[in-house]
Amino acid sequence: MIPVVKTVEEVRRYVKSAKKEGKTIGFVPTMGFLHEGHKSLIVRAAKENDFVVVSDFVNPTQFGPNEDFEAYPRDIEQDAKLCKEAGADIIFNPEAPEMYDNALTTVTVDKITKVLCGASRPGHFAGVATVVSKLFNIVAPDRAYFGEKDAQQLMVIRKMVKDLNFDIEIVGCPIIREEDGLAKSSRNTYLNCEERKAALCLSRALNIGKKMIEDGEKSAVAVKNAIIAEIEKEPLSKIDYVEIVDLDTLDPAERTDTGILTAIAVYIGKTRLIDNFIIEKVDNK
Ligand code: PAJ
Repeated sequence: MIPVVKTVEEVRRYVKSAKKEGKTIGFVPTMGFLHEGHKSLIVRAAKENDFVVVSDFVNPTQFGPNEDFEAYPRDIEQDAKLCKEAGADIIFNPEAPEMYDNALTTVTVDKITKVLCGASRPGHFAGVATVVSKLFNIVAPDRAYFGEKDAQQLMVIRKMVKDLNFDIEIVGCPIIREEDGLAKSSRNTYLNCEERKAALCLSRALNIGKKMIEDGEKSAVAVKNAIIAEIEKEPLSKIDYVEIVDLDTLDPAERTDTGILTAIAVYIGKTRLIDNFIIEKVDNK
């Protein structure tokens, strides 16, 4: 079985000994209840590094007071199996007091955390930036792997790493989906049978928007309206946001050919799901 490490000291011991042997360190931060999406990150980390650490920690500080921290699914034994299969070397699975001992320090990234998920989840990205900073300092990896499923999170981490001079390469990995298009997520387990079908409205609407852009639609508002219309056809859905934003600044985009992130958050029943697509800048020469 793969070692499931509970303390900061023990992780550091494993990593130091790997580095002594000249090994490079890959790191995949997660909140556990691992699925194929997480697995793709771990497999990639194992391909590109000699020693891979996965953190498995449901971080309380990134959940709002009325969010699902308590209900968030947990299964460390299953996670350990998946990590081993995917090629990880150790799992860091601390309890909250090991991570937060009367801490008074937080890391906040300004501006790009105020929109999209940051607007509906105040404090969320400060929680993420702080725990990821701590994990980076604990694991001291050469590379860290994040999914494009959480595109805004990936951008926030890239910005934080640049601004704070973390000597870590951030690797973004594509969204892994179920066969019918639903983006894999630990939160999909909250969906009942009817909601699971309804949840397909996210990827369906995004595909419609993407196709419009591929067919030449330049107006962001036209694409956004088509996405909203498709989601609203689904009676179990309630839109949190549908936005088309500039890929670098996350400011609202007017055109679709300037490098854009189309990001959506939709409640299906009580479950909040997110999905997105990115279209890099079109070079119209
Ligand atoms: P979690 O939601 O467990 O996700 C861990 C990593 O897996 C993130 O980088 C996320 O983008 C990636 N991921 C999740 N579903 C994916 C999918 N379907 N395809 C590709 N990648 C996917 O994100 C977090 O945890 C936390 O905020 C964390 C960074 C660990 C900080 O607590």
